[in-house]
This record gives sequence, C-alpha cells and structure tokens, in this order.
Amino acid sequence: MLGSGGREHALAWKLAQGKRVEQVFAGPGNAGTGGCARDLPAVNPARFETIADACRLNRIDCVFVGPEGPLADGVVDYLAEQKIPAIGPHRSAARLESSKSFSKAFMQRNGLPTAEAEEFADASSFEDFVRSAKGRRLVVKKSGLAAGKGVLESSRAEDLIPFGRAILQKDILLVEEFLDGWEVSIFGLSDGKDFIVLPPCTDFKKARDGDQGPNTGGMGSICPVPWVDPDLMNRIRRDVVEPTYAALSREGLGYAGVLYFGLMITADGPKLLEFNARFGDPEAQVILVRMRSDIVPILQGVAAGQLKETKIEWAKEPAVCVVLASKGYPDSSDSGRPIQGLETLKSEGDVVVFHAATNRKDGALLTIGGRVLGVTALGANLDVAVQRAYEAVAKVSFEGMQFRKDIGQKALARLHAPK
Ligand SMILES: Nc1ncnc2c1ncn2[C@@H]1O[C@H](COP(=O)(O)OP(=O)(O)OP(=O)(O)O)[C@@H](O)[C@H]1O
Ligand SMILES: [Mg+2]
Repeated sequence: MLGSGGREHALAWKLAQGKRVEQVFAGPGNAGTGGCARDLPAVNPARFETIADACRLNRIDCVFVGPEGPLADGVVDYLAEQKIPAIGPHRSAARLESSKSFSKAFMQRNGLPTAEAEEFADASSFEDFVRSAKGRRLVVKKSGLAAGKGVLESSRAEDLIPFGRAILQKDILLVEEFLDGWEVSIFGLSDGKDFIVLPPCTDFKKARDGDQGPNTGGMGSICPVPWVDPDLMNRIRRDVVEPTYAALSREGLGYAGVLYFGLMITADGPKLLEFNARFGDPEAQVILVRMRSDIVPILQGVAAGQLKETKIEWAKEPAVCVVLASKGYPDSSDSGRPIQGLETLKSEGDVVVFHAATNRKDGALLTIGGRVLGVTALGANLDVAVQRAYEAVAKVSFEGMQFRKDIGQKALARLHAPK
C-alpha cells in the first residue's frame, strides 16, 4: 500500500482481512496503518527507488498506489521496468487527472457529456474572456495537480482574474461553464479491459457546513447515495462509464486500477466534472467498510487482467465518514497536537477510525497536518450511520480540531422530505 492518508489506511485495513494475504505493508504509512500492516517508514512515494528497494527487501508481490502524485510522475512505469507489479495507471493514462487540459480534450473528442470549456495559456485573453462573461457564473481550473485547491467557481471577475493570473504564472487553465445540479462520485475498477462499477458516493469538498468556504481534499463522504436510483445508475453507465472505458481501450490508455468519475447530475443528465485516476479520499473509507467480499482475489484479478465475471458483495448498511481536520485547514495547518479518546472507540463494532496525518512520538499520538482522522460508521440506515459517526466524533479530541457537522444531512433531508 503506497501512501500515508486515510484512503491508504482503509485499503491496508481491507487488504489485511484477506484470506490469502501473508503480510500487508504500508509505505510510509501513518500512526494507524501499523495496526493492520507493517509500516515501511523509509519508503518515500516521491523517490521511486525507495519503493523498489522495499519491495525487493520484503518480497512484496504487488504495489497498490494510493495518491495521485507518484502516479502522475510515472511510478507504475518505473515499477514495471523493475519487474514489480503495481495497480494504478501508467504516466500516460494518469494524465486523465494530472492534466485537466488533456482530460477535457479526451472527453470532448470522445463525445462524453461534460461542461463547455475554453483553455488559456496567457493572462490577457483569459481576462478578456472573463470580462466578456459579464457576471455569468464560471469555473476556473488549474490544469495540473493542485491537491483539491486548483478550482474556483464565481460570477465575480474580481475573484476569478487574480485566481487565474496566479495559475498562469506556472500553468495553463480551463474556464468552464458552471453546471447546476448535485454531485456524485462514481468509481470504476478495471483490469485494463473489463470493469466493475462500485456503489455511488458523495464527498463533501467545501470546508464548512452548508457547503461554504474553500474547496478541500474532502471533509466527509457517504455511500451509497440515496437518490442515485437504478435508472440513474443505468444512465450513468450508458452515457459516461461505458463510453469512457471504450474510449480508453480505443486510445490504448486502459489500465489496471481505479478510475474516479466526478459527476454533476444536471437537468440534462450526468455530466463529467473531472476524472481522478485513483480512489477518492474520503470516498475509499465508506466504500471499503461496505465491501463484504475479500478484496484480495478482486485485486489479483485486476492485476492479472482477469476481472471478468468477478462479483463484489456489498453490505446493505450505508456508511458515513466524518473527517477531523487541523485548525486552519485547508489554508494552513498546524501539527504536534496530542489526540485523545481513540481508545474509547475500540469496542464500537460498526465504527472504524482511519488515520491520515498522524504519527506517534514518545508513545503519544500526534497530529501532523491538514486532514487528521476519518471517523467512519455503518448503520442500519443513513440516520443511524450519521448518528453513530457523530457519537464517535464526540469522543475524539485534539486542540483546534475542526469538522463539518452536516455530513449526510442533505441526504437525510431529501430522504425524509414528504413524497
Ligand atoms: N463545471 C462546473 N460546474 C459547477 N461546479 C464545478 C464545475 N467544475 C468543478 N466544480 C466544483 O469544483 C469542485 C472541484 O472541481 P474538480 O473536481 O474538477 O477539481 P479537483 O481539484 O481535481 O478536485 P479533486 O480534489 O476532487 O480531484 C467540484 O467538486 C465541484 O464542486
Ligand atoms: Mg481531481
């Protein structure tokens, strides 16, 4: 398991439950992964040789790459040269995420439903375009990776222009029409030929309650999404997922791994906001606690090109994840705060706390950055899952801890709305 976030802890946790697993490793891991894997703190995801060395030393059979950075830099290509199997896109396919310019062009040339967009490399034509929009709501997106902080939606030129100018100093950008609707995250798992669609999720990107504040890496998630009914799921498959995988294999970009479809469900149907070439964080947490099947034979099928016929069993219970973040996140983050209360949650069957930015020092569990923990709960229904998650959150504390209090509330309001 390459990485050290909540997504990686959830994957290591799920892998460790596998029947045919001798040992799960987490490189570099965090203060939670040690509970289900052997940590490899010497592994640096940005220095590929440290990954290969650890694989050889520990006779690791396969690497599951969690975060987007090493994928964009070609870690899967490097490991292939070292004859080390890995799950994740090669550098070329990773551009679906690492270059929004490449990704948008892929969507357009393959007729995939997505927002209208213009690409800019210079500030003056960008500014002219924004001014000519006369207050129309627009979305400016940095093309390269930005850890969830490269997108601004606004109808005010005085917001959009400085944001875009800053991007254009080092990168190109897209200006997209603003799509009205509600968001859903769909994940495909593929072996490069065949694919399986996982249950729909929603993540909560905005920092504060009521979807206010700046975009973050994600402050929570729910799975499944009550209003994604079978009809809509079929439409998403027919209009977006199937044509995407067909286009990937047509263009020789098919890969063994996860593809994230960031969708806006508009009045005209599902439209692609973006692709991510990896599992989402914190969507992985809610998907994996609901997966009843052993993930190991599934990932072996992914790595070996034998995913066809694979069936995945899912829990009926919905899941909710509430992210606990440090003071100042996402603009800044402090660290070194002792974390209290996790031991009181040990006995809670349907609650799992996935670590992200944590480490241990002199036996104390400390925060080391933005998103610290993902408190994840299952429940007989969404009400119970939400209640269980927040009861667990109430038992955990660290100085400056911040979290959204409304994860799942919109879904509940919709569920309970008079028919
Ligand atoms: N065309 C659009 N219309 C309306 N909202 C949009 C549009 N494009 C993006 N957004 C909003 O901005 C958010 C971030 O955009 P996008 O997913 O493209 O960027 P990202 O930074 O790559 O996100 P992530 O961190 O999830 O990978 C979306 O989740 C959505 O809320
Ligand atoms: Mg993205």
